[in-house]
Amino acid sequence: MELEDRVAAHYSRDNLLEAILEAVRAAGGDPARPAEEMLAAVGEFHTRGRAATVELGQALALAPGEAVLDVGSGIGGPARYLARAHGCHITGIDLTEAYCRTATALAERLGLADRVAYRQGSALAMPFADAVFDAAYTQHVAMNIADKPRLYAEIARVLKPGGRFGLYDLLQGPGGAPHYPVPWARDAGTSFLVTPEALRPMLETTGFEILSWRDTAPEARAWLAELRERHQRGETLASPLPTLLGADFPSIARNLARNIEESRVVPTQVICRRR
Ligand SMILES: C[S@@+](CC[C@H](N)C(=O)[O-])C[C@H]1O[C@@H](n2cnc3c(N)ncnc32)[C@H](O)[C@@H]1O
Repeated sequence: MELEDRVAAHYSRDNLLEAILEAVRAAGGDPARPAEEMLAAVGEFHTRGRAATVELGQALALAPGEAVLDVGSGIGGPARYLARAHGCHITGIDLTEAYCRTATALAERLGLADRVAYRQGSALAMPFADAVFDAAYTQHVAMNIADKPRLYAEIARVLKPGGRFGLYDLLQGPGGAPHYPVPWARDAGTSFLVTPEALRPMLETTGFEILSWRDTAPEARAWLAELRERHQRGETLASPLPTLLGADFPSIARNLARNIEESRVVPTQVICRRR
């Protein structure tokens, strides 16, 4: 199987929309018109969830009317939130067809179909013309992509000159190789972490000027501590992982926490400008 097929197979789930709407119903919501807050927990598939998306939107200064690209848009929570909060139009592209279908159905239910659109496709060969987006972002996607120079070259190609690009990804830390399975991969065969030292020149030679670089491990550790405390208090945790990852969830969640605690993975936010 090709790498992209293996990655899509890792994420793909049957009846994802039904499972999400069932969770909304169980929480007392209306599945025909679920409240966005109810979906935030399942729609944000990255470390620190919605909080990280809020920070990324602010750091990118997304503005009303702008055309924005979400590379690896998942089940669409970040695009739904940012389109509404900043008044921009967001196009998401994602390898996993089931995620695009689910994201589209949720956007329709939330009355956001004119603000967000999700397309199935590869970030390495995007079906968009050159220089059409004002801004682009990607969250927790590049870990699945071996050919990162091509990924960043594709993003640079579709951005207008001067366009902003924000990435929020898990980088390889000094603590050693990650423990598997993790949310993005069952084993090292579909996981390609880059060090900060390698990423910086890669972005610069692709045509990006780096405006800011944030190691967000301290915030991620605080988030993990809070999740642990809430779990110990017996609170039901609103996490997308059980729905999205199924039976492996307990070991995946444990490994993600361990990898962050042991500096094997470093959640990092980088803001750039296309030259
Ligand atoms: C951990 S999820 C993150 C989803 C979303 N960015 C979020 O933060 O909620 C990773 C996503 O990257 C997508 N992905 C991985 N490799 C990709 C590629 N080559 N092109 C497009 N999407 C890809 C997967 O299908 C999956 O939806």
